[in-house]
Amino acid sequence: MQIIAHRGASGLAPENTLRAMALAIELGASAIELDVQWADGELWVFHDRRLERCTNGRGVLTDQSRAYIESLDAGQGEQIPTLWQVMTLIAGRCELHIELKGPHTAEPVAALTRRAEAELGFRLAQWVVSSFHHPELARFAALRPELRLGALTANLPLQHAQFAEQLGAWSLNCDVDFVDAELVADAHRRGLKVLIYTVDEMSDRDTLAAMGVDGIFTNRPDRFK
Ligand code: G3P
Ligand code: MG
Repeated sequence: MQIIAHRGASGLAPENTLRAMALAIELGASAIELDVQWADGELWVFHDRRLERCTNGRGVLTDQSRAYIESLDAGQGEQIPTLWQVMTLIAGRCELHIELKGPHTAEPVAALTRRAEAELGFRLAQWVVSSFHHPELARFAALRPELRLGALTANLPLQHAQFAEQLGAWSLNCDVDFVDAELVADAHRRGLKVLIYTVDEMSDRDTLAAMGVDGIFTNRPDRFK
């Protein structure tokens, strides 16, 4: 079962910061997940729509200027990093699961993954691009059909894994609160991997392993070494 550091090693350092990414690498993570949003001509690594929970700023991230975003403290003196800063830090040392958090992300992520392959030593097989925003994921697929896609769901769809197959995804990524053995079996019948978020307890890992789940996103990669 693959272990994917969720928002970096976010149980041990401020989520989605360079510190959380560096710690995940130090812990030997074979894969890191992060969230990206587009604001003022830049891709920022940040999960929430609003700034309040994770920074000393206020408002909706995508409404802000580059100068304001760069002025914020994202915890322990860390800044909100750009996707390019994280890519530069990782430099092909592990797989990167890039979650498109909203519109206007497909084109810049397509461009930046190409640039990272040319300049930072990433290989095609090291990317997984995922989203709950299925139209944006489909737009990304049209731009980079050679890359793996993760089709995200936060619930249990009526047609099981059908939506992920329709998207041409490599994996179906589901919330631990909703996944069941039927969904896993249906995804596998359709040739899809199943990745589950967010799993920090060994007992949950064991339950998911018994269902045949292929990977978990965790805030505590140190626990699953
Ligand atoms: O990509 C898996 C997981 O990160 C999806 O949910 O809300 O943590 O981005 P969220
Ligand atoms: Mg995410």
